[in-house]
Amino acid sequence: MSHGYLSLHGYLSLSGPVGSSGVAAPHYRGSRYFLMALAAMVLGFFLAMSSAWADGGTGVPNAVPPKGEYEGKNVEQPIEFPHNIHVDVNKINCMYCHTYARRSKVAGIPPTSKCMGCHLVIATDKPRIKKLTEYWEKKEPPRWKKVHDVPDFVHFTHEKHLKRFVFDNEGMSVDRVPEVCAFCHGEVKKMTVAHKVKPLNMGFCARCHEANKGPFDCWKCHK
Ligand code: HEC
Ligand code: HEC
Ligand code: HEC
Ligand code: HEC
Ligand code: HEC
Repeated sequence: MSHGYLSLHGYLSLSGPVGSSGVAAPHYRGSRYFLMALAAMVLGFFLAMSSAWADGGTGVPNAVPPKGEYEGKNVEQPIEFPHNIHVDVNKINCMYCHTYARRSKVAGIPPTSKCMGCHLVIATDKPRIKKLTEYWEKKEPPRWKKVHDVPDFVHFTHEKHLKRFVFDNEGMSVDRVPEVCAFCHGEVKKMTVAHKVKPLNMGFCARCHEANKGPFDCWKCHK
């Protein structure tokens, strides 16, 4: 079993088994199983706390995506959008495109007009940019498909998480936002196509809420 440890300037700290170890079982069917799962979750949490820190002293989130059953397939998109070229090579901040993340539930996908701010002049000869320009000229937005999708009965909000781990996190610079996003989305900045690498199940959410005093009432995450 591998352990991931996450800490951002000692403010954000989380440890927990990651990957397919099945701690805090994601399937809760019936209240009896739920209680058992909850007990397992709490136990798993204490076991994890007692394990060795594994962040190599960098004080940044463990960005190694867990392998295994949670790893999503690449979703076929109207245009393959390379996060790596934009973020890793050209150093564009996640929040430049996902502008709503800091102020609403959703992170948002940028409108084509934002792409065209650059692609009216950049890489205009490339096939994917030609396709993008066709959408733009037809005034038709590309229909991006969802990669991450929690069930409808789950309430999630980006705003509270970014406020806590970026804006209210003393010493945390906005350049390091990708590390915070990576905790839940993996290393998107290295991806040629966005895909799901983190479980985003109840155990995953709950372990961090326990470690960082996030809300633990059922109704906070369930409507
Ligand atoms: C230049 C604009 C741009 C930048 C910068 C950018 N993204 Fe994206 N992102 C997109 C577009 C367009 C999509 C939709 C296509 C796709 O899902 O591949 C997307 C999709 C995503 C998705 C999948 C959404 C879903 O449906 O679940 C995640 C997660 C994501 N981005 C995270 C990030 C993170 C983290 C960063 C910074 C490391 C980042 N993005 C930087 C434009 C951008
Ligand atoms: C701030 C400027 C900027 C913005 C905004 C931007 N891009 Fe880019 N994009 C680039 C640069 C720079 C490259 C690399 C070009 C090169 O390699 O010649 C690139 C490359 C690409 C490529 C790869 C082209 C190829 O085949 O090599 C695609 C596809 C792409 N962008 C799509 C998009 C989409 C879709 C959006 C909007 C969601 C977007 N870009 C927004 C700057 C930008
Ligand atoms: C605490 C976990 C967490 C963090 C941190 C996080 N996300 Fe998300 N993100 C999620 C979950 C869960 C979903 C799926 C939401 C749903 O299905 O309603 C999601 C969905 C998305 C989506 C697609 C739907 C939407 O909201 O527009 C994008 C894009 C995205 N995230 C980008 C980002 C970026 C960029 C960052 C960092 C600035 C980030 N996320 C940080 C958990 C997180
Ligand atoms: C990296 C750690 C971390 C992860 C992972 C995480 N959360 Fe949180 N979450 C927190 C913390 C800390 C808070 C409290 C923020 C604050 O102080 O306002 C919080 C707040 C929330 C809130 C706001 C509740 C309110 O008061 O309105 C919701 C809803 C929530 N989380 C749902 C989720 C869900 C669902 C997931 C999994 C998909 C998740 N979180 C994953 C740390 C995390
Ligand atoms: C921090 C957020 C969070 C909290 C707090 C939380 N849940 Fe969940 N719960 C989730 C997420 C995310 C899922 C979706 C799991 C998935 O997609 O695998 C879920 C799924 C469930 C399911 C459905 C499981 C299934 O197999 O369909 C039940 C039942 C449930 N939760 C009950 C509860 C109860 C009862 C509480 C209070 C003791 C609670 N949850 C507290 C995030 C949370």
